[in-house]
Amino acid sequence: MMGAPGAGKGTQTRLLSEKYGYPQISTGDLLREMSQAETPLARQLKETISSGALVSDEVLADLIISRTSAEDCKNGYILDGFPRTLIQANLLDDLAQRQGNEIRVFSVALSMDCLLKRLSGRRTCTLCGEIYNIFFRPPKREGFCDNDQAPLQQRSDDFEESVNRRLAAYQEMTLPLIDYYRKGGRLKEIDGQRSVAEVFAKLSESIDDI
Ligand code: AP5
Repeated sequence: MMGAPGAGKGTQTRLLSEKYGYPQISTGDLLREMSQAETPLARQLKETISSGALVSDEVLADLIISRTSAEDCKNGYILDGFPRTLIQANLLDDLAQRQGNEIRVFSVALSMDCLLKRLSGRRTCTLCGEIYNIFFRPPKREGFCDNDQAPLQQRSDDFEESVNRRLAAYQEMTLPLIDYYRKGGRLKEIDGQRSVAEVFAKLSESIDDI
């Protein structure tokens, strides 16, 4: 699943994982988890993520190879936020070939105004990771998760300076991949401006057509 920061990749891949039974692999979530350790690598990861820059391709390669080798990935998996560079796309091509998988790419697109509102309004559950938005998808009780009542928090990279850097990294490094997959006939583009349910319905329709 590809798309700019805030396009709705995490929201949709969680729903797809529930519906189709493939594990959702969010590189952002995995990297944030890794960054909690007390090691020099973790500290470096934390800084890079908060600044809005991309983490190195080497770290991503180790992470993806290891996570996709797990038992729950043997029938396929849903990648959320990977690949983001041409080096990562090449790695995924090799990996898919070795694992006997086919790659299908969905790209969710929406306007810059909408992206900024989605990012500034996002709140995430500290326990289960459920994603809310104070403008578009507020929790029933302000500041707390509907699922488990745990507090919601704002991500450290959802503030203005980091958001600008993330959007710039997307334009420069990731957007060219859309063309790469379009030329290979593996891309389906989805209008991400619609409601969560409408985007999900479109994605499901495209998947069921495969
Ligand atoms: P990551 O966590 O992947 O961040 P991102 O790509 O910037 O994407 P987001 O998680 O911000 O947005 P999303 O598209 O998932 O939208 P969401 O569903 O949350 O990565 C974080 C960092 O990790 C990167 O900056 C980088 O440093 C590093 N990293 C990760 N992968 C990497 C890689 N491959 N290579 C190198 N570095 C990597 O939705 C956003 C908001 O909108 C929410 O509030 C949600 O409730 C709301 N919303 C969603 N859909 C709708 C809708 N249809 N209508 C209304 N509101 C909606």
